[in-house]
Amino acid sequence: PVVAVILAGGTGSRLYPASRSHRPKQFLALGEGDDSLLARTAARTGFADATLVATRPAFADAVTEHAPDAEVVVEPAGKDTGPAILYATHRARAAVDGDPVVVVLPADHHVPDGDAFARTMTRGARVAADTDRLVAFGVEPTRPATGYGYIEPGAERTVATDGAAGEPDDADAAHAADATYRELAAFHEKPDADTATAYVDAGYLWNAGIFAWTPEALFREARDSPLGPLVDALDREDPDPEGGFDAVDPVSVDYAVMERAERAAVVPADFAWDDLGAWDALDRVLDADADGNAVAEPAVTLTVDAADNVVAGDGDTHVSLVGVEDLCVVAYDDRVLVVPKERAQAVRDAVDALNRRG
Ligand code: GDD
Ligand code: MG
Repeated sequence: PVVAVILAGGTGSRLYPASRSHRPKQFLALGEGDDSLLARTAARTGFADATLVATRPAFADAVTEHAPDAEVVVEPAGKDTGPAILYATHRARAAVDGDPVVVVLPADHHVPDGDAFARTMTRGARVAADTDRLVAFGVEPTRPATGYGYIEPGAERTVATDGAAGEPDDADAAHAADATYRELAAFHEKPDADTATAYVDAGYLWNAGIFAWTPEALFREARDSPLGPLVDALDREDPDPEGGFDAVDPVSVDYAVMERAERAAVVPADFAWDDLGAWDALDRVLDADADGNAVAEPAVTLTVDAADNVVAGDGDTHVSLVGVEDLCVVAYDDRVLVVPKERAQAVRDAVDALNRRG
């Protein structure tokens, strides 16, 4: 069986001021449509036999509201994706009969083609089950983004097909292609701009942030990592999640596990994909006006001689842009943010500074 685990416990600080500690990005309807990012993610889990949503205690009620059909898994504390994923993967074993493959899904992705997505998830789950590797999904990069992880693909491999009886003949080719993956030679999380450029030139792939694995494979790879104490606390007869969480520091799964994984694989993410984690993403997923300005509803804007900007807001503040280019201008509540599109990832630092000031 396949268990989807949606990660919905982040604070979304790069999407300040729409995303605030009481209203993080996964509960917002960014991009097109009225559904929140979390609701849209949950609607894409039809390929799984069960869906869990992992979140920190403060967001448990909001998760129930946005994903009413999923089981909510509340981790003892918000300590980034590493601890959250270990705990949810442990809980996935009790969610279904039999040994599960867990598919981990962030709640901040733009994936317009749900069918192509589901086919790829099924393929990845199969590679995870057959190879015992940690499976990542690789996206062809289109720019030297610094907000992503990069995967160096290794040797191409094929898992034995199960040759399911009754498959029509013309499905055989697709069936064989289904079983192809590449070994993951190396993983590098969030490089600086120069390194990212070198990775793109070298043919590395973006990490989509989606993973498939068996609980055994994840625990095997995480045991010798900074998350080792949590693995030990979870993977025993009388699990102690609270004690395990106390024993580890916040860290993402990318740094803690993927960068040091010994047996991992990459399956191509052959569906349109974007991460809606920072304001410049709206530029890529919204239709722009004739001057290249992308305005997210319900923001109200007047532009004069202004081009290639991103504007978002709750509609209560009228935003005028005159003679400026390549900015993100965002107005929510009583807060305004202005940042060059190319520095959108750095909004996290501004929010950290605001939080330190209290
Ligand atoms: N349950 C839980 N608990 N979820 C969390 C926590 C936590 O403490 N912290 C973050 N999350 C959730 C976020 O809500 C989001 O849905 C998901 O985990 C990923 O977090 P991001 O903060 O958006 O990660 P990222 O975009 O910087 O980087 C990851 O995704 C990229 C692609 O989208 C990495 O995996 C990169 O390597 C990858 O390229
Ligand atoms: Mg993200």
